This record gives sequence, C-alpha cells and structure tokens, in this order.
Amino acid sequence: MLELVVLISGTGSNLRALLDAAEDAEYPARVVAIGADRDAEGLALGEEYGIPTFEVSYGNFPDRQAWGAALADQIRVWRPDLLVLSGFMRLLPHDVVAEFGPNVINTHPAFLPEFPGAHAVRDAVAAGVPETGASVIVVDDGVDSGPILVQERIPVLPTDTESTLHDRIKHVERRLLIQTVLDVANGTVDLKEASRA
Ligand code: GRF
Repeated sequence: MLELVVLISGTGSNLRALLDAAEDAEYPARVVAIGADRDAEGLALGEEYGIPTFEVSYGNFPDRQAWGAALADQIRVWRPDLLVLSGFMRLLPHDVVAEFGPNVINTHPAFLPEFPGAHAVRDAVAAGVPETGASVIVVDDGVDSGPILVQERIPVLPTDTESTLHDRIKHVERRLLIQTVLDVANGTVDLKEASRA
C-alpha cells in the first residue's frame, strides 16, 4: 500500500479525485495526510474523508528556507512513500526536494515544457494556441521542469475562457494523476529511473 502525503493550495478538486479513487479497496495507494501552504479550501477534505491535515502558512516564516524546513518537518512525520503536489502553488526549496525526491510528483495544467509556472491556463488562452494539455512530472528544483511521467493534449476551443479550459484540463489531470500513482504503486513507473532520465 503506497502511502501518500498530498500538498494543496486551493480547492483540492484533483485531491478529491485521488481520495475517491483510494476508496476502492483495490487501489494500492492511500492518502495518509493532506498539507497546505495556506488556509486552503481543500483542507476541509481532511474532515470529510477522515484524514489528518496540516497547514504550514508561508506568511508565518521569514523566508522560503525556514518555511520549507517547517513543511519538511510536517511531511516527515507521515513517512510518505510518495509526496503528491496537486494544485500546490509554491516552489519547494532545494532541501525539501533533496529529502523527499525523487518520490515527489506534481500535476500541471499544460503540455510541458509549454506554459510552465503558476498561470499555465491563462497563458495558453492568451497565446491563442489550438491545443494545450496536462502533465504529471517528477518534481525537481526548477519551475515545472522535472522529467515528464505522462502528458496528454487537450484542445483549446475558440469559446474557451481560462475557467472553462481549466475545468476541462483538470478532468484529464485527475485521470493522469490517479493512473500515475497506480503505476508508481505497482512498479510500472520507477521514479528513481525517471528522475535519472
Ligand atoms: C490544478 O490544475 C493544478 O495542476 C494547478 O492548480 C490546479 C489546482 O486545482 N497547479 P485544484 O486545487 O485541485 O482544484
């Protein structure tokens, strides 16, 4: 049973999809704790699904390093097999990536390396591209720059707004995330190998 800690910053709709998948006894992974860098709406999922949560608010620390050290202290308690960033809007400091990597994955609402960063969907709409995508990557020290585990193209419709496009992307992200966690749990995906690629 792969034990996951999931980090969020927002609504946690992708997290909810993972929690629902994990309700199936056949699914070889379970979320043991949910963490956030702020008072994220998605922390309420902890209450709903009976899973411990922790909040390490970025604003409570003098700098990224101190925040990262406190975040790592909270994650370490759960001894996760895999750290999943799902709508986590902070860059993890090097020390955190070094400690938990390569067992750290992230979902991103674009076809990386296209549109990295915090405004991927808005950037795709603004660029007027005919298609974008969703990606699951191994987290490294960069901004959405780690090895790509899986990604899928998603059309951008002329009528799309950032919101309609992001909703369509999230549906794909959730499927890719659930599949990737399954693949890591059953050994189909080897994160050590992937991170050496
Ligand atoms: C997802 O598209 C994620 O890839 C991006 O922010 C969104 C989070 O959505 N970083 P939610 O919080 O899971 O609803």
